[in-house]
Parts: sequence; structure tokens; C-alpha cells
Amino acid sequence: RQRERAKLVDAHAFTAKVYHYILRNTAAGTPAMDYLRSRGLNDKLIEEFGIGYAPARWDTLTQALTRNGYELDEMERGGLISRKHEGDGFVDRFRDRVMFPIHDGDGKFVAFAGRLMSDGQPKYLNSPESPLFSKSRTLYRLHEAKGAIRKSRQAVLFEGYMDVIKAWSAGVANGIATMGTALTAEHAALLKRFADEAIVCYDGDDAGQAAAQKSIPLLEGAGIRVRVGMLPGRMDPDEYITENGPEAFVRETIEGAVSAVKFQLIYLRKSHILLEEDGKIRYLKDAIRLVARRESPTERELILKELAQEFGVSLDTLKQDVVDVRRQEK
Ligand code: UTP
Ligand code: MN
Ligand code: MN
Ligand code: MN
Ligand code: MN
Repeated sequence: RQRERAKLVDAHAFTAKVYHYILRNTAAGTPAMDYLRSRGLNDKLIEEFGIGYAPARWDTLTQALTRNGYELDEMERGGLISRKHEGDGFVDRFRDRVMFPIHDGDGKFVAFAGRLMSDGQPKYLNSPESPLFSKSRTLYRLHEAKGAIRKSRQAVLFEGYMDVIKAWSAGVANGIATMGTALTAEHAALLKRFADEAIVCYDGDDAGQAAAQKSIPLLEGAGIRVRVGMLPGRMDPDEYITENGPEAFVRETIEGAVSAVKFQLIYLRKSHILLEEDGKIRYLKDAIRLVARRESPTERELILKELAQEFGVSLDTLKQDVVDVRRQEK
């Protein structure tokens, strides 16, 4: 087991080198270099993130692994190659994709994500679960970000690889991402070893906002304070940085991140029609339930003051509502 894992880590490191070499030094890699540049990634970023390219062929990696003495059965179990559907033998798993190496928390190579350069499905192909790699326990770039996270006790949590990379180039060194799956309690527990606060900075589209919403109880459940970085429209961090520049991103989205409850209230608004009286009442009811869950009396009072002002209700009335809800939920 131990030996197999070590062999697979070694094979992933080798594979990362092969793909990186192809991207940087071969004609086959030129369209991928153009693609990366068109997305605003310069040479320095491509090096820093070890990005590569898997050519549009069936056997580039399979042959390279064979020539270098790797056991193909073992490599298949590690998700680097696939068994042929018909007949014997193996084929490359990743073809015609820009390759992002993924490391475990210690910096060992354990997986890849490969992005198509044109439209098509899936947009990102990730390595399968393997003896080395578990999506629900891996945070992209944790190995590089953990120094900065430890120092500030704060992490910025993104949805996508590209967001982490672009934010890094904007000076956000404590950025990490999940692997395209939802944040898990395991992720949160892992993160808690380094951070006391997370800024959740997911995409501005409905899926991203819903995911941010779901991440709040998970992170708080692990003892991590949550703030949410918001983006205008349906942009994601990568698009925002491209459009508005790194300074605006750091200032507006990161430094301007709102508290968890503020975000929950903003999110709640979308499902209520506040122009109508009963819509208002239902919104306030739900809002009070959210506020009642906050443990800090100061935090509760600050939010209630804002609600009181906005809806023309007295602070005392709202406080009484909160007391009632807290009593019921005990
Ligand atoms: P997004 O659809 O938001 O992609 O998925 P993105 O990160 O903005 O990608 P670009 O900018 O178009 O390149 C967010 C994340 O979900 C996972 C990936 O981890 C991606 O970064 N994902 C998405 C997949 O695993 N497979 C997919 O087909 C799509
Ligand atoms: Mn290089
Ligand atoms: Mn998205
Ligand atoms: Mn996105
Ligand atoms: Mn994107």
C-alpha cells in the first residue's frame, strides 16, 4: 500500500513534468499557450501553478509511462490512464486538455484537472477517486496557501481553479478551492487546522450563491467564522479580476466581504417580494429566525437595528421576536 502510494505520487510528478514540457516546448502545446495567455495567464503564473497540456492523442502519456518503467495497471488505479473499452491495453485519460496539477496538503502530486479549450463536456475532467486522491478531502493549493493562511488565520475559499490562480496573481496568497464538488465537513475540519475565518468567494451566479449559502453552516460548524465576498452580476472572481483589475477585487470583494448573516439576509431577499405587505412580513419572520441563530448579542442587535430602521418597526419589537424564537428553538 505504502509502496504503491509512493509510486503513484512519483508517477503524478512525472506526468506533471511531461505535460508541462509539452505545453512549454512543443508545437502541440502552442494552442494551449495561446489559450492560457488569452485568459490572462503569463509565464510566471504558468510556472508557479505547474500548468501543462495533454495532447489530442491516445497514447502520449501511456507511452511515456511505459518507457519509464511504470506499471500500467497501477497507473490505471491512480487514474492517469484508462483501460481500453475493447481489447487489451490502456489509453490516456486526459486528451486535448490544459492540465492543472493538484497536490495534497503536503505538496505531493495526487491528481489532475484538465480543461477543454473549447466548448464541450465535461469542461473540467478531474482525476477519479484513487488511493491518493479524495475530492472531499482535497483543497486545491492548500499546500502553497497554508503558510499565508496560518499567518493571518484566514482563508479565501473559491469555487474554481482559475479563480484561485487569478486571485493569487492579484496578491491573494491565502486562496484555495474545492474540487468542483460541494464543500464537505471534512474540508471544513481540515481548514480549521489553519484558519479561524473563511471568506467564501463563490461565483455570482445562482449555483455559486446557493453553494455559498450552504457552506456557511458547514464552516461555522467547524468553528470557522464566515464572511462572504460578493461579486456584481453573475461574474466569477476570474472574470471580475479580468474586467476590473486586481486592486478593485481585493478592495471590493475581499476587504468588502460581508458577515455571514448579512449575506444570508441578502440571499433571503431574493425569494421575497418586499413591495407587498405580507411579503415584508414573511421576510422579517425568516430574517428574525436567521438573526436568532447568531450567538453574539451584539451581532444580533446590530442587525436588528438595521432591520428596524428599514422596515419601520421598533427595535424592541424585533428583539422580542428574537427572544421568542430563541426560546422555541432551545
Ligand atoms: P465553473 O463552471 O464555475 O468553472 O466551475 P470555472 O472555474 O469558472 O472555469 P473557467 O473559468 O470556465 O475555466 C467551478 C469549478 O467546478 C468544477 C471545477 O473545479 C471548476 O473550477 N467543475 C466545473 C468540474 O469539476 N467539472 C466541470 O465540468 C465544470
Ligand atoms: Mn517550466
Ligand atoms: Mn460556477
Ligand atoms: Mn466560475
Ligand atoms: Mn471562470
